[in-house]
Parts: sequence; structure tokens; C-alpha cells
Amino acid sequence: MRAVIAEGGGGPEVLTLVERPVPAPGPGEILVKVEAAGINRPDVIQREGNYPPPPGAPDVLGLEIAGTVVARGACAERWREGEAVMALVPGGGYAQYCLAHEDNTLAVPTGLSMVEAGAIPETYFTVWTNVFDRGRLASGETLLVHGGSSGIGTTAIQLAKAFGATVIATAGSAEKCARCRALGADRAVNYREEDFVAAVKEATGGRGADVILDMVGGDYIPRNYDAAAVDGRIVQIAFLQSPKVEVDFRRLMMKRLTHTGSTLRPRSVAQKAEIAAALTREVMPLVEQGRCRPVIDSTYPLEEVRAAHARMDSSAHVGKIVLTTR
Ligand SMILES: NC(=O)c1ccc[n+]([C@@H]2O[C@H](COP(=O)([O-])OP(=O)(O)OC[C@H]3O[C@@H](n4cnc5c(N)ncnc54)[C@H](OP(=O)(O)O)[C@@H]3O)[C@@H](O)[C@H]2O)c1
Repeated sequence: MRAVIAEGGGGPEVLTLVERPVPAPGPGEILVKVEAAGINRPDVIQREGNYPPPPGAPDVLGLEIAGTVVARGACAERWREGEAVMALVPGGGYAQYCLAHEDNTLAVPTGLSMVEAGAIPETYFTVWTNVFDRGRLASGETLLVHGGSSGIGTTAIQLAKAFGATVIATAGSAEKCARCRALGADRAVNYREEDFVAAVKEATGGRGADVILDMVGGDYIPRNYDAAAVDGRIVQIAFLQSPKVEVDFRRLMMKRLTHTGSTLRPRSVAQKAEIAAALTREVMPLVEQGRCRPVIDSTYPLEEVRAAHARMDSSAHVGKIVLTTR
């Protein structure tokens, strides 16, 4: 089968199409004939050599897939050959065939294309576990989401709105802000022109945001403490700017803030299965009703993976970039 690996760390040019044997499913695993594989920023960090696959994960890139079940390993009872599924995988998605654990796999919601399904798992699992589990966002509260136009951001805006929150998003251009508003954001802040702390204070009558989903870090960390409401929860999922910063923690103490964070990929199959179950129960019905939908920026055939990564590197995209296999 054709698959994509990164040969040494670097730009899109290190991405190489190779021939690999079709993997055999182990206990609890299914083999999926991949039709679509979403690209995520962590793939870029892996390509650059700064995010090695966890022990046991394949060196083939790709954290999410949609396709058809073609084989099952021992004790894999949940799915049948021929069923359309989407799965969160620890690697191996940029390929014609990919293994997935049956418990980290979801049915493709009615009405969704394979391309849309392939854009769901990584962002939906991440947003659910961080905004709703760790951040405990409740109906009537305010979510501030940085990187509102990213794959993660476009998902967070839609899910938070669907669960009754007010949403403020930050993004790097007027056009991206308009897209965030079209997805449901009540307020979008062009961070290149406007101070997000002042904008959040103004939008919340001085109260601040109850939950902040942050992928930027750096000087956003003290500014998030300023933008947060009393008893606010700040959830860190990445450090696009920097993981190191000097912070005056008195604000955290005086406001009784909770600053937490998580990474998805190294978590156990069982922990990911819990998130999968919650998504199936709470979120997939909303997707079927059309109240949440992955935003597809562009699609590229597997063979054009370098161009797909170049688009993500440009940060010009809104939503998800997806690879397709023929
Ligand atoms: N912890 C986890 O489990 C987990 C899981 C998945 C993803 N993530 C992280 O979540 C973030 C979003 O992932 P994604 O796949 O949705 O990414 P994405 O679609 O590539 O979006 C990233 C966006 O962040 C904005 N940005 C702000 N500061 C930036 C900087 N210094 N460099 C580059 N971009 C910057 C850019 O938009 P603007 O034009 O608005 O600046 C860019 O479009 C990534 O950092 C990723 O590593 C974490």
C-alpha cells in the first residue's frame, strides 16, 4: 500500500510516499480501507522532528481517518466488514489502509461525506475532552477560543454554541473573523488589530470568560488570566508561541482560576474510548442534525501531501485540510 512518512525533520519536502505492507489487525483492532485522512497541526510538528510517535505507534503520519472496515482482529466484535467508520488513530492515517482500535472508532454520521468524516476525530476528541471534560463548560457560560479559524477552533465554536455557551473567538485576519462569526461566534477578535483582553471584558460586561481554550501560550498566558472570569478555567492544548513565560500568579490565586491542559495522542485506548462514547452519545446526534459540521478548507490526493502541508504551514486555511486516497 502507499503511505507517507517524514524522512528526517523539516519542511513539506521531507514527506515521502513509500510502499508498505498492509498491516494486520491485532486483538481488538480493525483494518480500515482509508478514503480520507485529516491533517492536523501535530502532524506538522511531527514532520518537523519535534513530536515523535509514541512507543508502538507507526512512523506513518496521520491521526484520524474515515473509510470502510475490511478486516477484524481477534475479539473485534463492534464493527462489521463493509461498515463506514471514522477513527482516532495513534498514527498511520496517511495511507491506503490503517489500523484502528474498535473502541476508538465511531460510525460515520448519516449525511456526512467521507471527507467530512475524516476531518472529525482528532478535533472533536480534543475539543470534547478539553472544553467540556477539563474545562467543564456549561450552558450560559462564555468560552474564549484562541485560533478560532483552526480545525480545533472551528469545532470548538460550533460545539460550544450547540451546548448553549456564548463564544468569543480570536483569529488573525478580518476574513477569518468573519468565518468565525458565520460558524456562530458571538464576537470575533482580530488579534492583530485589537486587544483580546479588552474585547472579552467589553463583551462580558467586565466579567471575563468562564473557559479559555488556548493553543498559543507565551504572552497569552498572563493575558488569559486577565481575560478570565472569577472561577474561570483555562485549558492549554499547545504553545504555538512559546511554552515559557514569566507570570504573576497572584491573578490566578485572587480569581480562583484553574489552569490545566492535556495532550490526546499519548492517552490510553481506554481513555480515548471514554471520549468516543461521550461523543457518540452527546455530539454525533448534533452532527446528524446538521448543528455541527466539520469545516473543510481543502482536499488533496495522498500523492500531493507536500502541497497539503504547505497550505497548513501558510496558516491561510480555515478549518480542515484533508487527504483523499483513490
Ligand atoms: N493537546 C492536544 O491534544 C491537541 C490535539 C490536537 C491539536 N492540538 C493543537 O491545537 C492547535 C490547533 O490545531 P489545528 O490542527 O486545528 O491547527 P491549524 O488548523 O493549523 O490552526 C492553527 C492556527 O493557529 C493560529 N496561530 C496562532 N499563533 C500561531 C503561531 N505562532 N504559529 C502558527 N499558527 C498560529 C493560526 O491562525 P491565525 O491566522 O488566526 O493566527 C493557525 O491557522 C495546534 O497547536 C495543535 O498542536 C492539540
